[in-house]
Amino acid sequence: MSSRILVLNGPNLNMLGTREPDVYGNETLADIEAKSVARAETLGLSVTFCQTNTEGELVDWVQQARGEADLIIINAGAYTHTSVALLDALKACDIPVIEVHLSNIHQREEFRHHSFVSKAAVGMICGFGGYGYEMALEAAARILNNSSA
Ligand code: DQA
Repeated sequence: MSSRILVLNGPNLNMLGTREPDVYGNETLADIEAKSVARAETLGLSVTFCQTNTEGELVDWVQQARGEADLIIINAGAYTHTSVALLDALKACDIPVIEVHLSNIHQREEFRHHSFVSKAAVGMICGFGGYGYEMALEAAARILNNSSA
């Protein structure tokens, strides 16, 4: 059975394509999802891709992932920098977590340099645009000891 990867996306990521393209590029979230699904297939992973603008919904999805997903890839958007609730949920879910950001958050405003999500993550990939999701899937395959990684 293929490992189950839950890819969670937070607020404003539904606006990709038109949102600050100089920072986030021209790809839409649907483009990134399609590439992620294709890459996951080659790695023997199955992917569920979700987006919400609501902090509580992200927390609900992380809680529900326990027992239903083998690994979480998360771009929490701005909640990365603010949400202790999300950190607590990620710490409680007992599933490995990989953090992704399209932009290099360390090159940007000071308030983006701190990530609560990082405290619960195996590692973080940032600055590679949508390709960062594919990198995270490769890391996921390796973490889950998938032979095709
Ligand atoms: C982001 C970086 C965050 O600081 C920002 O609030 C986002 C997107 C990224 O993918 O680069 O919404 O997570």
